[in-house]
Amino acid sequence: MTNKINYNKRQFLQHSAVGALALGAFPKMLFAKTGHLQNKATPGFKPDVEIEFTSRDAYVSILRGGAKTKVQKYDARLIKGPQNTLVELKGNYLGPILNYAQGQKVRIYYKNNMSEPSIIHWHGLHVPQDSDGHPMYTLEPGQSYVYEFVVMNNAGTSFYHSHSHNLTAEQVYKGLAGLITVTDEEEQKLDLPRGEYDLPFVIQDRSFNSRNQLQYLQGMHGRMTGFLGDTILVNGLPNVEFSVKSRAYRFRAVNGSNSRIYKLGWDDGTPMTAIGTDAHLLEKPETRPYLMLAPGERIDLWLDFSGRAVGSELVMYSLPYAGAMPPKMEQQRLGKKSSAGMGMGGGMGMGMMGGGLGQGDKFPIASFKVMEKVSDSPALPKKLTSFRRLTEADVDNKNQPIPIGISMKPMRPQLNGKSFSMNRVMDFERVELGSIRKIKIFHDHGSMKMEQGQKMDKGMKMQGGGMGMMGGGMGGGMMMSMAHPIHLHGQQFQVLSREIEGMRQEEYKTVSKGFIDSGWKDTVLVMPGEEIVIAKPFEDYKGLFLYHCHNLEHEDLGMMRQFYIT
Ligand code: C2O
Ligand code: CU
Ligand code: CU
Repeated sequence: MTNKINYNKRQFLQHSAVGALALGAFPKMLFAKTGHLQNKATPGFKPDVEIEFTSRDAYVSILRGGAKTKVQKYDARLIKGPQNTLVELKGNYLGPILNYAQGQKVRIYYKNNMSEPSIIHWHGLHVPQDSDGHPMYTLEPGQSYVYEFVVMNNAGTSFYHSHSHNLTAEQVYKGLAGLITVTDEEEQKLDLPRGEYDLPFVIQDRSFNSRNQLQYLQGMHGRMTGFLGDTILVNGLPNVEFSVKSRAYRFRAVNGSNSRIYKLGWDDGTPMTAIGTDAHLLEKPETRPYLMLAPGERIDLWLDFSGRAVGSELVMYSLPYAGAMPPKMEQQRLGKKSSAGMGMGGGMGMGMMGGGLGQGDKFPIASFKVMEKVSDSPALPKKLTSFRRLTEADVDNKNQPIPIGISMKPMRPQLNGKSFSMNRVMDFERVELGSIRKIKIFHDHGSMKMEQGQKMDKGMKMQGGGMGMMGGGMGGGMMMSMAHPIHLHGQQFQVLSREIEGMRQEEYKTVSKGFIDSGWKDTVLVMPGEEIVIAKPFEDYKGLFLYHCHNLEHEDLGMMRQFYIT
């Protein structure tokens, strides 16, 4: 372990030494100034699809019986385009599903009708800076914004959500999110489940008070680990049961939770098959005993009920796993009295984490009941698509990867030793347009400092795997080592390698079979002790593109930086 961390640290320091000198402001024109927002449609841009979006406060029935829940909600109206472009989820806080086709020109008018600032980001879509929902474009109440972009993505699943800095976590929590699908000609030729057999599967966790109102974290309490709710919602509803036919379905699983990581698996041990990750189809389906799904990630699931008897029921679970939380919290969680296996409503000793369901506990997500026998199921395709598999030979910075060093100072999770700053980049965050960059994402405990500014000594670090140190256990470094889903805006990337080192390898074995690294990704879960090397193309658009932890509490605490593509 120490070798690796020393190496990382040295490299990190080299980078930051250069970066610190090169810190500078951007050309002014990159920035949206208040009152000068891009609020006019471009005359030369002839949209195929035109949509009017609003965000507002609303009341919807989430829990059966009793009061409606106050939420924040996106509404949309189709002005121009194919009828299936917008699909409303009835009585839901989630925004409508957006169905795009590759090549479409899209214009969106967004008006913020809430009493607080907000902006929409299209997570997974490769769009220009000024249509990406960078927090610099945050709208005040009553303001509007015009997005214009061409759908460059291939077929896949993405999602949209609010991205107003410091408000993202709470606004997504209150409902500001929705699903995006993209199709392309190649996908249309495949015999994949369509129409009523191609369904959304947006997984979120929430907590409700006795008046059916959403409960979020109070103050700073719990932010360092992230919000964990005790009620699991699928497509905006609890206890969801899908009535299915005895055939194959495509379920577009999106983890829209603030910080909960799911380990998707069946109660009867049937393996899980994926046909796509994040915004892209895989070359060929991948079948695993379970699939990990971290906040921000998507997996297109191929769920085949062929051969299942009418009346049979399958339950999809989040299966138990370990290692995502800091060691001390993991010990508390695993030591708590488990309530009859299911973990639902346990509620013991988890006050600090904001709910009765710990990160890694087992619980049901949704059930599937076979209602009808049919024989029209498509067969699982052997090949789905083809794309260039990136290797070390494709990157132009093989020996000097761009670092994304994860660190946890007290109440301050950071990337590359810095918090988000709207108008700053470090030297190594400047990237030339058209390049393919090697990026190394790692845990940077080496640069951890104590609150008083002293370095932790080795002895303390080694105890990090142990228990009961530092009173509150919020001292930083290894003690706070936890899983972070790292998301990069703009184009998708590929995972080149994954290595695990350190003391938490036994825990890692409970999740290691659930990562699919053979496709395109825009979000990757980095477990404690893990180092992940990716290759990311920076093509088509210049400007500022964010990278951040998609644990939304971390993001809002400043665990976000940006690349400046020039
Ligand atoms: Cu889904 Cu910048 O995030
Ligand atoms: Cu994004
Ligand atoms: Cu994080």
